[in-house]
Order: sequence, then C-alpha cells, then structure tokens
Amino acid sequence: MLLSNKVALVTGAGQGIGATLARALADAGASVIVNDINHGKADEVAHAIAAAGGRAVAQHSDISTFGGADAAVQAAIDAYGRIDILVNNAGILRDRMSYNMTESEWDQVIAVCLKGTFACARAAIREMRRIGEGGRIINIASRSGLRGSIGQANYAAAKAGVLGLTRTLCQEVSKFGITVNAISPRAVTDMTNSIPEHVRKKKDASWADTSVVRRGTPEQIAPAVVYLASGEAEWITGQVIGIGGDKLSLWSHPKEVAEAFIFGGWSVENMREMFRASVASELQSVGNKD
Ligand SMILES: NC(=O)c1ccc[n+]([C@@H]2O[C@H](COP(=O)([O-])OP(=O)(O)OC[C@H]3O[C@@H](n4cnc5c(N)ncnc54)[C@H](O)[C@@H]3O)[C@@H](O)[C@H]2O)c1
Repeated sequence: MLLSNKVALVTGAGQGIGATLARALADAGASVIVNDINHGKADEVAHAIAAAGGRAVAQHSDISTFGGADAAVQAAIDAYGRIDILVNNAGILRDRMSYNMTESEWDQVIAVCLKGTFACARAAIREMRRIGEGGRIINIASRSGLRGSIGQANYAAAKAGVLGLTRTLCQEVSKFGITVNAISPRAVTDMTNSIPEHVRKKKDASWADTSVVRRGTPEQIAPAVVYLASGEAEWITGQVIGIGGDKLSLWSHPKEVAEAFIFGGWSVENMREMFRASVASELQSVGNKD
C-alpha cells in the first residue's frame, strides 16, 4: 500500500474534508491521528477507521495554540512512535463585511486557519527532523486566499498567510527531505453550506455553461492528498494545487509581470508616465472568478 508504515496527523478530521482525508490515508495504509475539538465526531471517525480494519486514534486538542498543536503531534509519537504526514485541515469561517467585522471574528479565524497551521507544522517538523526520515506537510488553503473573497477578509488573509507559510517552510525544510505543499479544495461540506444560499447560487450560476463539476464531494479531494503524502511525490514541494469535483489545477507562483528602472529612484511624474504609457496593459483584474 502507498502509505504502509506511515503515520499521519489530520487536524479538524471530525467531519467534512478532514474526516474523508483521514479515512483515505488509513485506506492507503497509514496509521492516523484524527484530531478535532469536537470529541464525539473525532471518536466516531477513529472508530469507523478501526472498524474498517485501519489504524486510528482520536485526539481532541485545539490546534490554534502551540500547546494544542504540540499535543496533537505528541499523540502520534505516543501511539505510533513517529509522524510522517501532517495535513493541516482544521478551519473555521466567521464571515462578515470588513467594515462590520469584530476583533473576535478576526482573531478566531487567524488563530485556527493561520496560527494553527504554523503551530502544527512547527511541532511536526521538530519530530520529523529528530526521526530523520523526511516527511510530508499538506496545508489546506483556499481560493479565498488566492483570489480574495467578499465578506471573508479574516479567512482570505489567513489562507493567504498559509500560502506564504507553505513557500517559506518548503524552502526551510527541503534539506531534511520534508515536502510542504498547499491544496485549494472545493467540496460540499457543512462549511460551504454555512455560506448564504444567494452567494452559493451566484457562484453556481457562473459555472452553468459547462457540464464539469467544480464543487464535488470531499472524496474527490482525497486522491491529491494521498498522492502528495506518498513517497512518489518526494519531488513535489512548494506547490499550490487546486482540486474539486472533476477539476485539478496547478496555481502559478507570484511573479513580477513588469519591471522598470530609473537611476536614483522614481518620482510621481515618472510613475504617472509609466503607468499611462506602459504598465496599463499589465494591470490585472482582481476577483474570485474561475
Ligand atoms: N469545503 C470547501 O469547499 C473548502 C474550500 C476551501 C477551503 N476549505 C478548507 O478545507 C478545510 C476543511 O473544511 P470543511 O469544509 O471540511 O469544514 P468543516 O467545517 O466541515 O470541518 C472543519 C473541522 O475543523 C474542526 N476544527 C475547527 N477548529 C478547530 C481547532 N481549533 N482545532 C481542531 N479542530 C478544529 C471542526 O470541529 C470541524 O470538524 C478548512 O481548512 C477549510 O477552510 C474548504
């Protein structure tokens, strides 16, 4: 099996995409730590994996603190003696227009989606380095962080932070044989169902001209994660991969699309001239479109 003798930690694995990823990693041979602050749901997923002949342990810490993240990684060491794969999946939404957003809504989303991702990666990398056999870190990002999304300033900022983190960790830990990639998923879950219906309908309408499915099931996300977690993907790192329904995509890395130099630096007049004359054609529209 692709992941025989591997140990994986999946955060936020009590339901939705995380639960499906935990089951898929176990089906591929990995022993899995099923982390979720929802005790009952984490226990259910772990029991179901065991009942199907897999190996899994439930763990209930809040990964948005360094202590909670350390405890989740420690659970892998305690149960199976190692950690090879970390899937940073736990996430929350607290959607509101930026001008109405509260400090608590901002802080909660940054804590779970961004700080939690870093905290778990930090803890896992320490153990992976100690064990000395490489590792796989897969960060669940979002299109919101890539393209921006109205009503999701907190979430988009956190997920954009996850992309910066992915690229930075990739550069820091490739020398240890650890790969770090991001997945931008799309699947129907409780999270997407919490988005107001008129917003979802607008998005679905923009896809009406094609028959391919772009927001499918969590099961359709799993193959990308299992593959990236495997030994076969040892050469893939620092990438952002989109997957959902029938669609797989590879995102570009941010790059300068135009550059110019003036000895001594730029003045407002130079800027005006340059933007009018040359750069206008390079200005790109921003929006969460396909
Ligand atoms: N569903 C989509 O289309 C979609 C799109 C883009 C990104 N994502 C991302 O995919 C991931 C999974 O999303 P989902 O749709 O399955 O969501 P979901 O709400 O169904 O599941 C998220 C799980 O994370 C758990 N969780 C929340 N905070 C936690 C914490 N502090 N510690 C541990 N567990 C915690 C929740 O209890 C829940 O079980 C998230 O990171 C989300 O941002 C999902």
